[in-house]
Amino acid sequence: MRRVFNFSAGPAALPQAVLEKAQAEMLDWHDAGMSVMEMSHRGKEFMSIAAQAEADLREIMAIPDNYKVLFLQGGASSQFAMVPLNLLRGASSGKNGSADYYRTGSWSKKAIAEAKRYCDVNIVADTEIDGKFTSLPDEGSVKFNPDAAYVHYTPNETIEGVEFAYVPDTGDVPLVADMSSTILSRQIDVSKFAVIYAGAQKNIGPAGLTIVIVREDLMGEVKDGTPAMFDWAIHAKNNSLYNTPATYGWYLAGLVFAWLKEKGGLVEMGKINQRKAAKLYAAIDTSSFYANPVAVNSRSWMNVPFILANADLDAAFLEGAKAANLMTLKGHRSVGGMRASIYNAMPEAGVDALIAFMAEFEKGNS
Ligand SMILES: Cc1ncc(COP(=O)(O)O)c(C=O)c1O
Repeated sequence: MRRVFNFSAGPAALPQAVLEKAQAEMLDWHDAGMSVMEMSHRGKEFMSIAAQAEADLREIMAIPDNYKVLFLQGGASSQFAMVPLNLLRGASSGKNGSADYYRTGSWSKKAIAEAKRYCDVNIVADTEIDGKFTSLPDEGSVKFNPDAAYVHYTPNETIEGVEFAYVPDTGDVPLVADMSSTILSRQIDVSKFAVIYAGAQKNIGPAGLTIVIVREDLMGEVKDGTPAMFDWAIHAKNNSLYNTPATYGWYLAGLVFAWLKEKGGLVEMGKINQRKAAKLYAAIDTSSFYANPVAVNSRSWMNVPFILANADLDAAFLEGAKAANLMTLKGHRSVGGMRASIYNAMPEAGVDALIAFMAEFEKGNS
């Protein structure tokens, strides 16, 4: 068996201890005589797995009691539609109601395009310059529309590697965050948010599961014509068992939450993540061979894009990295260069190995 350091942006590496536990429990979960994949989602075994996963997530994120936690499918991309459908409170069918959106990179652009199908979108900040997103607005510099149904932002833009170091203060207007690539990377204050959503395939578990954390008072009124599957309140009322959920993903997410607890929770994880990111950025910044274009105060802890001074060397870099067991470092096609995604499951040793390879490659090619 061979395990590499996998820098994929998602689906991403999972903690090896979690995979080993899942492997050990694969054929016979806790004497049930069957795999979790084969269990009824309404049976007592799966119900206990589901409840434990939710309890552990609530504990590690310190989610207040007036929030529901939903374990859904459809990816973060479905939430791009579910957010306006559920938050344009009482708005009847047709285009009415408006929402404020930050436009800070590829994923917020997609969220905006989807929201435009259901409401008027006000762009309150647009950080695109010459086709690139490399910075974020200063804290407190953005003016919100007091009548907006909500403000939406993407705390971490996975493709550009741009991350907010602060939570925007939107006053009484509900704040919605697409946390797909930053959830669980550090402790946050959930009470500052109205809705948090995330596809699982980075810091939570395998693809196929989507987590939504939503303040209870914001549920219950959807736009006319909203499908039942797109109504948060229906999922909340049914404890995310309205239809067959992604049972195995939910179980694996539970194993990841238990692993996080064992590691000391999100405060500890945040320290490790900050250290991992800092050493990788330092390696990039101290070399003239590599460069990261993102403003220092807007750099992501999770996704670190970098370019080589000579793009002709990109292929050789990737090939050499692969030979050193450092995989999936190619940058997103829209940005080019490289991207190292260093989520919770990437051990510090993986970052150290990447830094060592980068130095060696630079030496051999400058
Ligand atoms: C920040 C962000 N939002 C949304 C998505 C889309 O997620 P999904 O593929 O789960 O729909 C991604 C996927 O990488 C992402 O990184």
